[in-house]
Amino acid sequence: AGVAASETREGLQLAIAHRGASGYAPENTISAYRLAVSMNADYIEIDLQMTKDGELIAMHDDSVDRTTDGFGRTRNLTLARIKSLDAGSKFNAKHPSYANVEYVGETVPTLREIFDEFGDSTRYMLETKAPGDNPGLEEKLWALVRSRGLENRVAVQSFSKASLLRIRALDEDVPLYQLFWYSRRAAPLSKVTLADIATYADGVGANFSRIDEKYVRKVKKSGLLMLPYTVNTRSGMNRALAWGADGVHTDYPDRLKEAGRKE
Ligand code: G3P
Ligand code: CA
Repeated sequence: AGVAASETREGLQLAIAHRGASGYAPENTISAYRLAVSMNADYIEIDLQMTKDGELIAMHDDSVDRTTDGFGRTRNLTLARIKSLDAGSKFNAKHPSYANVEYVGETVPTLREIFDEFGDSTRYMLETKAPGDNPGLEEKLWALVRSRGLENRVAVQSFSKASLLRIRALDEDVPLYQLFWYSRRAAPLSKVTLADIATYADGVGANFSRIDEKYVRKVKKSGLLMLPYTVNTRSGMNRALAWGADGVHTDYPDRLKEAGRKE
């Protein structure tokens, strides 16, 4: 399978391009993914939602409001409607220093289109979003991955254990990451929780700003990989790696190298 199974588990310093190189280009668009691939990111991270007519699309929120010029919940909109929206212009307005005319009119990509564009030239960190609202997402996702022969290029992460278990039932080998989000300083995960995670997943992702070295070391001690998100400064990257993290999710994948990454 992908990284967790086929490469050494020690000393990884994975640059996971969070929603693509989303510091520089509109999140979850082909432009952001292209940039990430050109920066040699180890993975492009893609949030997955499902349209009313059952197509998997790259979108973080369960509505199109924040990132496009449209309104409404993704599951209430057809792919044709979503494809008519501009997913680039809001980035230009918000980030004038990185604005690019080429982003204007950029569309929301389907996972199919992303696989068409990049094939096996990159790895994909796929995040199943809102599994309760998107029934059947995991089966659709895995059928598509299989039909493209990309099983070895893919990892799946989710805040939902149920969603990860559904993926695990479909494939024994695909690397899985259990995500956590903490609103305040996180206590290290208990031995029982870590042992449970290890029964179905290969690693843990958690928000970097609320964890510390103790948290990372305990995850690592249980044999799981640790991938903090979203780490955007070079000093943050250095700190996460010094704690023993196996890489970081970042909007600026090029910065991980500059932060002293091992080659
Ligand atoms: O990469 C982990 C991270 O993507 C989870 O948070 O909200 O950015 O999807 P979010
Ligand atoms: Ca995500």
